[in-house]
This record gives sequence, C-alpha cells and structure tokens, in this order.
Amino acid sequence: MATYTLPELQYDFSALEPHISARIMELHHDKHHAGYVRGANAALDGLAAARNKDQFDDIGALEKALAFNLSGHVLHSLFWKNMAPKAGGRPQGELAAAIKQEFGSFEKLQKQINAVAASIMGSGWAALVWEPLGKKLLVTQIYDHQSNLAQAGTPLLVLDAWEHAFYLQYQNRKTEFFDAVWNVWNWKDVAERFEAARRVDMALAGAGTGGA
Ligand SMILES: [Fe+2]
Repeated sequence: MATYTLPELQYDFSALEPHISARIMELHHDKHHAGYVRGANAALDGLAAARNKDQFDDIGALEKALAFNLSGHVLHSLFWKNMAPKAGGRPQGELAAAIKQEFGSFEKLQKQINAVAASIMGSGWAALVWEPLGKKLLVTQIYDHQSNLAQAGTPLLVLDAWEHAFYLQYQNRKTEFFDAVWNVWNWKDVAERFEAARRVDMALAGAGTGGA
C-alpha cells in the first residue's frame, strides 16, 4: 500500500531559471524526491511485514530507512513550496518582525542560513524552524535528511545543500547556489507556515500541554 505519493510541482521545471536550471529541477523532483517516496513506502511495507511475521530482527535498519526516506520526502515537499517563480524579496508583517527580533536583521538571517548550508560536512539542509518551547525562530543544520535535528522545531523554510540540488549548474561553487536561491524564496508560503505553527502552539497551550 503506497501511503506516500510524490506531489506535483506547482510550477514548470524551467520556472525558477536562471537561478535553478530546468534540468536540475526535473532530476531533483522526478528522480531524487521520487526515490525518497518509494523508500518511505518500502520501509512501511517492511515494518508491516515484520509485525505480520512477528519477526523484528531488521527493525533497526527499517526504522533508519523510514527516518531517512520519510524525512527526505517531507523536506523536499516543503522545499518545492518554499520557492516560486518571480518571488524572492523580503518577508513582511509578523514574520519580518520575528526575524528582526531573533536574528537582528534580515541580512543576518540570510548570512546565518547560508553559513549553515555552506558548512555542512557531507549532505544536508539548512532550515529556519519555529521552536515551540522557547517560542522562537531558530536556524538548524540538518545532516542527511534526519540527523542533528533540534527536536520539535517546525520547519518553515528549508534549503537543500545536497550536491544533487546544484551540481549540474553550479559545480563546486555551491555558495553561488545558496545566494541564488534567495531570488526565489516564496515568503508568502513561509509566512503562512509561521502563522500555522504558532496557531498549533496556542492550541496546545490551551490544552495544558505547552510551556517550557
Ligand atoms: Fe534534494
């Protein structure tokens, strides 16, 4: 049973050019992201089979495969929506105010995210997250798709720093890709995620489960 499916891109492969080439978008979405979807479903099937056979010898590998592939699916689904044609610019309203409060300025946030992306050893992501206990924005560095996480942070904006995200176009000049992606960030999408994360937070606090 296929629980997870590859979401359609909401714009053409070429829509983010010249910042991200159509060929990168095509391979990234149709091959890499699709692979994580397949891997997540295969891990679920493996777990179901283990339960049916009452045979849990491979449980560690299955859970690791689930964490890796499902996290890859979640992050890529988010990444596609975090970007849009003719976007970029700056966030407005409460998100802009929260960024100024937490990071000092938009430019400092930009520098921190790009430094996080550029300093990943191997494959990973830089992520702007809403951290519900401290009720604050944080930038986190994710290894692969699932490691080094600050638990409970809700990702709002994610930057793919795997080589497959840029190598065809930027080769070893990955910091040029990290600069270029700021021309296509969809701040409207990020702001909606920021609002939704804070609404969940308020609802949980009302249910008596919030607090530090
Ligand atoms: Fe990727």
